[in-house]
Amino acid sequence: MIRCVDTNANPYYWMWGVNRWLSTRFNLLSSAVVGLTGLVAVMSPSISASLAGFALAFSSNITHNLLFLVRRFVGLEQSMVALERVKEYSELKREPPEFVEPRPDSAWPENGHIKCEDLVIRYAPELPNVLHQLNFEVHPGEKIGILGRTGSGKSTLALSFFRFVEATEGKIVIDGIDISKIGLTDLRSKITIIPQDPTILSGTVRSTLDVFDEYQDAEIFEALRRVHLIPSEDAPEETPDTVNVNVFRNLDSSVSEGGENFSTG
Ligand SMILES: Nc1ncnc2c1ncn2[C@@H]1O[C@H](COP(=O)(O)OP(=O)(O)OP(=O)(O)O)[C@@H](O)[C@H]1O
Ligand SMILES: [Mg+2]
Repeated sequence: MIRCVDTNANPYYWMWGVNRWLSTRFNLLSSAVVGLTGLVAVMSPSISASLAGFALAFSSNITHNLLFLVRRFVGLEQSMVALERVKEYSELKREPPEFVEPRPDSAWPENGHIKCEDLVIRYAPELPNVLHQLNFEVHPGEKIGILGRTGSGKSTLALSFFRFVEATEGKIVIDGIDISKIGLTDLRSKITIIPQDPTILSGTVRSTLDVFDEYQDAEIFEALRRVHLIPSEDAPEETPDTVNVNVFRNLDSSVSEGGENFSTG
């Protein structure tokens, strides 16, 4: 928290530092102007005392006004940047809707039958196609590998299943449903990806495994048992020493940012 406050205060620190430096410079300028006016007043015998007084009073004010002019101008520039951002965001193309009625069955996809029909993908209208008329079918329960040289579009194909890039032509059908016809939340909550670079957020073991807080502790332990991160129930009794060593026994064990206290390999 304190680190966040520091980060937030950092730009203000520098901004006010520069501001103070600017006003020091203006004060020096002000002294020079007042000094010069005084000198002129003293040197010219034709100037009356009242006129000299006026000239001195105004000359000390002018730099003050200049300083404010500079500050207001900088303020205006900053506000213009903010305006520019608001304009930019308000013109961004909207993502497709989160839910589209009728929503797919809650059990979808039951079998995992995937069919790709004439799939053409490109990242932007002005860029060349990355996938050209791709046709393939994966039957339920099949395990497939996709091979290709670097840049051939393997990751692009994976992204297109989640509609991070939309199909330009063709479609992907999973268990009879064309994925471009359903809402993004429905689609992305039903399929899973294990990316090349593992990502772990800071928090506890519980919040890492169950990000949306949907499962009971018993279900989380069951999952940990199935991947052998904790011993199964019929394993021999553990001594208190080994229990303490296994951080997965306690769902409140902390996970540091980027999973630094775990091996993500
Ligand atoms: N965000 C992007 N914007 C524009 N073009 C992209 C983008 N990401 C990838 N590409 C282009 O799409 C093509 C396929 O890239 P992709 O990352 O799918 O290849 P890959 O087969 O996964 O490669 P690798 O084996 O290196 O992971 C490449 O020519 C790449 O330049
Ligand atoms: Mg890749």
